[in-house]
This record gives sequence, structure tokens and C-alpha cells, in this order.
Amino acid sequence: MRRSLLSLAVVMTVAALAAFPASASEPLRVCLDPDLPPLSSAAGERHGIYWEVGKRLADALGRPFQPHGWPTDLGKRAIRTTLLADRCDVALGVPHVKGLVGPRVLVAGPLLDLGYVLAFSEGGRIARIDELVGKRVAVAFNSEPQTALATLDGVVTVTFREPEEAVRAMLRGEADAAFVWEPAAVRIEQETGRRLTIVRVDGPRLRWQAAAGVAREKRALHERLDELIDAMRPEIAAIARSYGLRYDAAIGWDWLATPPERRGALPAPIVRVAADQPTTEAALGERGRTLFNAVLGCAHCHGRDAVGPERARDLRRMQIRYRGDWIDTYWQTVLEGRLQTRSGYAMPAWKDTASREDLEAILVWLSGLQLAR
Ligand code: HEC
Repeated sequence: MRRSLLSLAVVMTVAALAAFPASASEPLRVCLDPDLPPLSSAAGERHGIYWEVGKRLADALGRPFQPHGWPTDLGKRAIRTTLLADRCDVALGVPHVKGLVGPRVLVAGPLLDLGYVLAFSEGGRIARIDELVGKRVAVAFNSEPQTALATLDGVVTVTFREPEEAVRAMLRGEADAAFVWEPAAVRIEQETGRRLTIVRVDGPRLRWQAAAGVAREKRALHERLDELIDAMRPEIAAIARSYGLRYDAAIGWDWLATPPERRGALPAPIVRVAADQPTTEAALGERGRTLFNAVLGCAHCHGRDAVGPERARDLRRMQIRYRGDWIDTYWQTVLEGRLQTRSGYAMPAWKDTASREDLEAILVWLSGLQLAR
């Protein structure tokens, strides 16, 4: 009995190999950001966490590893020109939320937990969030930490264009803490050789999981990667630690529990923009436009550049429609959606599928488009 089962397995394996003769040697093309240390980096001797994970996944599949550049910022989301154009088989580092990068992408994983951390110079730390009251906290402009800190009275928020700049300023003594995306803190730690104390902050919209994205057509690959990643999780965690990702402490902060009238309104920020960089507003607006037209798919229903197929969906007319309330209406509609409309079409709710930063970038862009009459 045992023998016949065994031979059946052998026959099945041989049959399976014969059915897919090429797949064993075809490279596994892995989309990786070329400049996002410690997650991935084309330069240097060690190429980053995702790079090493990609290599191990290729090994496990018996396929040669072939990295494919997938630039940061918008490029990271513009999965259309990479994964969906079949330039790579898998993209490492997409958010582990079904449908967030579009219906054509399946997510395998999660690979890693990531999020915002409070970084202090060595020795500094807090045990509760209200210990930040009276302190100066450096953040990246328009980031989730900036929004969250606006709900906490008495914190002096100092805003920078990039999270790395916020960490460097903290190390120079210009702030008591930096509240930033954790890879940025680790990057500066490695750049400066100064050890930081890194405190994880558990709270709404402050943590998420990264995953492997695969085009919907490659269902079998997606399933296989899901299994492999699941089995590799301890190994992935060890790789992440070897690149300096870690927490020296953790605190919880349910900042959304703050009364709603305190939320949403951003504080007047102190923005420090290096002279050679485009103005924050312009860069943000441009990002918003791309998100609207090409990434989040708003243009499908609202027309390219928000011109709207019908008046009620023409988003350039919001200020005419709602006057001073138009920004509140924007947030209300975009976060919660709108089911009852005269046209019968529904506006989806975006609160769980788009980041606050992205929706803010769209708002900045829309502000510049409002018609006078
Ligand atoms: C599936 C179609 C669809 C998509 C996708 C969509 N919307 Fe809408 N949106 C609508 C409809 C329908 C309305 C309601 C218009 C009405 O009241 O008749 C609406 C209303 C709005 C309003 C309120 C407009 C007003 O003047 O009352 C805003 C703001 C808005 N959408 C922004 C967005 C943004 C930003 C995105 C992308 C993140 C987006 N929408 C994606 C269909 C869509």
C-alpha cells in the first residue's frame, strides 16, 4: 500500500514537471525599489530585506532570482507599468490589503509589519503618549503622525519635507523626538552610526503590513508564494532584525478616540523646505493629480482632471456648491462615501482603502482647481 502511494507520487511529480518544462529555469523577476534601504537597495554590499526575501523565494521555487527596478514614491504604487505590464512576476512591499493596489493584484503574505515609530537619541524614551506634551516632535509634512499629533494639545510639531530630515534634526537637538516611518529612522541610524531608541506606536493608521503582489492571472504563483512566505516568516523576521529593524519599546495610542472636531484640521505647520526642492504644495498637488488620474481610479467616475461626466461629479465645482464647507464635504464624502445620489451611482468610501496622505494630496490638488463661478 505504502509503496503504491509512493510510486503514485513519483508519477505525479514527473507528470507535473513534464507539463511545465520551462518554469523550473525561468527567472523569478522580482520588482524591488532600487533605493529604499533597509528594505531594498541596488547599491552597496547588502541589498536589503525585500531583496534577500526575493532571492530566497526564487531559490525555493528553483528559479534564478532576477531583480527589476521599481522606483519609490508614486512609482511604487504605479504597479501598472511594472507588475501589471508583466515586467516582473512579484512586487515586494505592496500593502497587505486586498484590493488596495487595484483589483488586478493579488497579495501574498504578510511579509513584514511596518509603521510609524518614535525615535529618540539613545536613552530617551516614553512609556505613554502624553509624555510628549511640552516636547518638540519632528515629523514629515502631511504624514499620519502629523495628523495624529494634532489631536494632542501641547505638543510642538516641527515639520520637515522628508522623514529622514526629521530624524537628523532630532539628532542635532532641534527636536526631542522624531515620529516617522520606521525604515527612515533605521536608515539614518546606519548613515550616522548613532544608535536610536525606537518605540513602536500601535494605533489606528499607524501600522500596516507589507506583502508580495502578484498579477491576478498568476494565481498558481500567488498560492505558492503565500505558502512559502508563511513558512519563511521566522526567517524573514531574522533578516529584518539583521538590517536593524527592531523595537526597543512599544506604546499604544488610540488617537482617533479624540473628539471628531479636533481631528482632520491640520495644525499650521512649520515647514522647512530645502531651497533646491520644489515647494511642498506644488509637489503634493502634482502627486494628488497622479493619484486621482492614474493610481486610485477616481478619474474613472469623475473624469480626467476632475472635470466630471456630469455636473454633480465635477469636483472643480465643490467650492461653488458648498462654499466654506467644501473641504469638510470633501473629507466626509471621501472617507465615508455617498450611497444616495440623483444619478444613482454610488461614491465608494475610501477610509479603509486609501491613506490619509494620499487623500490629502488629492485635496491640495483639487484646491487649485476650484472654479470661481
Ligand atoms: C465608482 C465611481 C466613483 C469613484 C471610483 C470615485 N467617486 Fe467620488 N463620487 C462618485 C459619485 C457618484 C459621487 C456623488 C455625486 C452626486 O452627489 O451625485 C461622488 C462624489 C464625490 C465627492 C463629493 C462631490 C460633491 O460635490 O458633493 C468627492 C469629493 C469625491 N467624490 C471624490 C472622489 C475621490 C477623491 C475619488 C478617488 C479617491 C473618488 N471620488 C472616486 C463616484 C465615484
